[in-house]
Amino acid sequence: MKRIGILTGGGDCPGLNAVIRGVVKGAIIGRGWEVVGIEDGFDGLLDQKKMRGLTLDDVRGILPRGGTILGTTNRGNPFSSAVERNGRIETVDLSARVLANIKKRCIDAIVVIGGEGSLKIALELMNHGIPIVGVPKTIDNDLLETDVTFGYNTALETATDALDKLHSTAESHHRVMVMEVMGRYAGWIALESGIAGGADVILIPEIPFDLQRICDAIEQRRRRGSRFSIVVAAEGAFPRGGGRRVKAGPDARHAVERLGGIGEFVAKEVGELLDMDTRVTVLGHLQRGGSPSTFDRCLGSRFGIKAVELLEDGNFGQMACLKGREIRSVPIERAIRKLKLVNASGEMVTCAEELGIALGR
Ligand code: F6P
Repeated sequence: MKRIGILTGGGDCPGLNAVIRGVVKGAIIGRGWEVVGIEDGFDGLLDQKKMRGLTLDDVRGILPRGGTILGTTNRGNPFSSAVERNGRIETVDLSARVLANIKKRCIDAIVVIGGEGSLKIALELMNHGIPIVGVPKTIDNDLLETDVTFGYNTALETATDALDKLHSTAESHHRVMVMEVMGRYAGWIALESGIAGGADVILIPEIPFDLQRICDAIEQRRRRGSRFSIVVAAEGAFPRGGGRRVKAGPDARHAVERLGGIGEFVAKEVGELLDMDTRVTVLGHLQRGGSPSTFDRCLGSRFGIKAVELLEDGNFGQMACLKGREIRSVPIERAIRKLKLVNASGEMVTCAEELGIALGR
C-alpha cells in the first residue's frame, strides 16, 4: 500500500471530517502512505481535477467541523450516471473512466465513507478490481451490522434539543406541536429523540398510524389537565392504509425519492379533529449540520483508524463497525442486504409505550 484514496458519498453528516482526519493521520503517521482526497463523492472519480493530495496540514483543525472537507453528492453513480443527450436524460456506465483515473493516479485502494447507497457503489467498484474498505455513515442509523453509524448521535442531540425548545412554547400557547424529523424509511431518530425529549406521540414508518389513536392520546392528556402535546413524526411515517409523503423523485435528478410532508398532514388532521391549534416544525437539514458530538468525533476517529488497519491487512470489501464498545469489521455485503429498521415489538418501542407515549396504533 503506497497511496490510498478517500471519498465521502451520499448525504453529509456530522463526523465525516473526523473520519477523514483519522484516515489521513493513520495512513501518514507510522505508515508513510500518501492520501488522495476525492472530491464530491463518486463524481470525483470521473475527473482527475477533483483528486488532490491530503497532508496532515489539510486535516488540522477539522475535527469539530460539520460537513465534509471533500464535498459530497447523493446523486452520482458512475455505473449508471444520468447524462443529458439531445435534451433527453440517459443513463450511461462511466466505470471505464473511473478505473482509468484510479490507475493514472496510482491509487492502490479507496476508503469509501457512506451509507447504504454509497456502499453498494463501493462494492461494484470492488467487483471491478478496486480494493475498497467502507466506513458506515448516516444520520438515519439504518445500516445493518453496526450498532450505530456515526452522525446519528449528533442528529439525535439536535432533535432532542429542538423538542426541549418546542415544549415551552407549546405549553404557553396550549398547542399541539408536530415536529417532523429525518430518517428515511427508519424511525430511529424519531423514536430515540421522542423518548429523550418527552414526546407524547411518536410516529415511525415501522408502525403505520391511526389518526384516531393520536387524537385519543392528545384528548386524554387534555382531560388530565395538559393542554398541549408534542408529536414527533418521522418523515417516512404514514397512516394505516395510506402512503408515504414524497416530495420528489426518484428520477434522473434524484437517485432516491425525497420524503417530506407527513408533519403538515398530521398537524392539519389532528387540528381539525380536535379543534385545537396546531403548528409544524420540519427540522430538516439542521439534523445533518453543525459540530459533531463528542461521541461522533470519537467514533469517526476510531472508524478512520480501523479503515487504515483493514487496508494494511488486505481486508478488502470490509466495513468498519461498532459492536458493543468494540470497533470491528464485517463484509460490506452483509451490511447492505437490507435496511436496519426499528423492531415494532422490540424493547425501545415497548419502553416508549410503557412511558405512556402513543405510537398511533
Ligand atoms: O439519508 C440522510 C438523509 O438526511 C435522510 O434522512 C433524508 O431523507 C435525506 O437524506 C435528505 O436528502 P437531501 O439532502 O437530498 O434532501
